[in-house]
Amino acid sequence: MNINQNTHHEKLIDKFNRHINYVRISVTDRCDFRCTYCMSEKMQFVPRAQLLTLEEIALVARAFTELGVEKIRITGGEPLIRKNIMQLFENIGKLPKLKELTTTTNGSHLLALAKPLQDAGVERINISLDSLDPEKFRKITRIGNLKNVLSGIDKALSLDFKKLKINSVILKNRNHNEVVDLVRFAINRGIDISFIEEMPLGLIDEHNRNETYYSSDLIKNDLEHEYELVSSTISTGGPSRYYKIIGTDTKVGFISPHSHNFCSQCNRVRLTAEGQLLLCLGQEHSVSLKKIIRAFPGDIEKLKNSIRKAMEIKPKGHEFDLTEKPIIFRHMNVTGG
Ligand code: GTP
Ligand code: 5AD
Ligand code: SF4
Repeated sequence: MNINQNTHHEKLIDKFNRHINYVRISVTDRCDFRCTYCMSEKMQFVPRAQLLTLEEIALVARAFTELGVEKIRITGGEPLIRKNIMQLFENIGKLPKLKELTTTTNGSHLLALAKPLQDAGVERINISLDSLDPEKFRKITRIGNLKNVLSGIDKALSLDFKKLKINSVILKNRNHNEVVDLVRFAINRGIDISFIEEMPLGLIDEHNRNETYYSSDLIKNDLEHEYELVSSTISTGGPSRYYKIIGTDTKVGFISPHSHNFCSQCNRVRLTAEGQLLLCLGQEHSVSLKKIIRAFPGDIEKLKNSIRKAMEIKPKGHEFDLTEKPIIFRHMNVTGG
């Protein structure tokens, strides 16, 4: 392994002058849920032998931090179901240049793993929760159990994380009538919540995405019957536009790829569980880091060079269109969102 560390502060800048300081790493495409907007009922997962090993993922993470990346989010599928995943959190948590290690989870394993995550240095967790009604929750996730997720959220709440956030994907005639309840759930627990517009990633079979579209503006309107929302300048560097709910500690975020495009401020790239570096969630531009790692095991300089070069092909933005068949055939579980 090359031990010559760069002493100057390098930054990853793309062709459009965007500074990439955030990497989302998917550690598995598998999940213990089958959310209808994310997956089709029957899914083919990547054979385990084709995944990056946890050691290889840790090397990629280190390479990125040496290139100026300060924030890493571990995603899936469901990241917490990957075998020995806590080892990876512990290793990444120790990277000297990393400022923030976070994860996005469906919450099903938080009861057991919230504490180990915190011990590994995770300070913020985003938890997906689309319904507070056990039956509806089951319908949306196909196999998820609401009670498990709620006890996972309770566990995390008891541990004083710096920040917990709920993510809800809202679909018309599925859960759109729950937006006020979901916000109340967040307010009562002093945490934040983001509403996400469904994105056309991968073929799904349960509904037509054009028919279930429920825009952020409609949600905001629904909430304003109940709460006073004030636009906030706060940004986590993510795509959410935030509003403070007056009289509470809760912020509501809207992730609106259709109604409010945010690509010009994009600060992130993604690594799939198979080791493909994806330059945009909504495009196919990518580079195989697995090839580099396997051709030059442990050579972090080779890896850093491919990452630097990859910045040249980061596209300007996505071209999501709900009225067409998806042009991106990869499902969200491959990229972790
Ligand atoms: P923080 O800002 O750190 O809280 O994270 P986040 O909101 O970016 O992360 P999270 O994993 O909670 O992601 C929420 C959702 O935002 C993702 O599942 C995606 O649906 C969406 N999202 C995140 N990044 C992008 C992006 O670059 N483009 C698009 N279109 N959607 C994104
Ligand atoms: N569109 C929008 N959000 C999605 N998610 C999964 N699939 C989709 C999709 N097609 C969300 C999950 C989770 C986050 C990582 O991505 O609900 O909150
Ligand atoms: Fe699993 Fe998340 Fe996809 Fe649901 S949205 S199936 S929890 S990866």
